[in-house]
Amino acid sequence: MSANKYKRILLKLSGESLMGKKQFGIDHERLGQYAKEIREVAESGTQLAVVIGGGNIYRGIEATQEGFDRVQGDFMGMLATVINSMALQAVLEKIGVETRLQSAIKMEEICEPFIRRKAVRHLEKGRVVIFGAGTGNPYFTTDTAATLRAIEIEADVILKGTRVDGIYTADPEKDRNARKYDTITFDEVYKNGLEVMDMTAFTLCKENKLPIIVFDMNTPGNLKKVLQGKKVGTLVKF
Ligand code: GTP
Repeated sequence: MSANKYKRILLKLSGESLMGKKQFGIDHERLGQYAKEIREVAESGTQLAVVIGGGNIYRGIEATQEGFDRVQGDFMGMLATVINSMALQAVLEKIGVETRLQSAIKMEEICEPFIRRKAVRHLEKGRVVIFGAGTGNPYFTTDTAATLRAIEIEADVILKGTRVDGIYTADPEKDRNARKYDTITFDEVYKNGLEVMDMTAFTLCKENKLPIIVFDMNTPGNLKKVLQGKKVGTLVKF
C-alpha cells in the first residue's frame, strides 16, 4: 500500500529541462535524476504515467516562424516527444523500473499504440506508462496531451514539473516582489491572468476537476515530497 497522498498521477516533464546544462538534446545526468525520482515514486506504490515535451529537440511553433507549415512543424515536434520518451524508457528500464511506452501516432516497430484500457492495466500492474507523440494532432501542446491522458486514465492529479518552484503573483525572474502561492483556485488563475499551462490544457483540467501541482522538478527529492503532500510547489484546486 502507498503512504502517498495520491494513488495515480500523471507527471508532465518539460523537454527543455531534459537539456540540463546542454544547448540541445538530452543531458544524461538530468535524465538519470528524473529516472531515479520516478523509480522512488513507483516503488512507493503510486501509479505513475509520464508525458514529456520535445522542446529540447524540436519546437513546432518555431518552425512556423521559419516559414514551415504549422501542421508539419507540430508533427515533427510530436516525433521529438517520442525520442525523449524512448530515452526515459531506456534509462528507467536500466535501473529496474518496468515501463510501457504508448504513442498517439502508430509506430508499431517502436512502441505500443495508445490504448486507454491497456494503459490503465499497465498502471494497475505497477508499470510506469509513458505517453508519446502528444495527442497525435497538430495545434495541441504537450500540456494539453498530458491533461487529456491524465483525465483518460483518471489520474488524481497532474504534476507539472518545471524549473520554477510554483506559481507566483508575477514572473519571479523579472519581479523581485513576486510572491509564491501555496494554493490557488482555477478562478483566481483566470482572474489574475496567470500562466500555468496554455488555456486549452488549463480549461480541460478545470472542466474535468483535475487539480494541478506546479513544482520544481530539478530539485532532487521534490517529486517524492509532492506525493507525500508536503508543501512543495503550488496546488491549483477548486
Ligand atoms: P500484459 O500481458 O497485459 O500484462 O501486458 P504486456 O504489455 O506485458 O503484454 P503485451 O504482450 O501486450 O506486450 C509485451 C511487450 O510488447 C511489451 O514490452 C509491450 O510494450 C510490447 N508491445 C505490445 N504491443 C506493441 C506494439 O504494438 N509495438 C511494439 N513495438 N511493442 C509492443
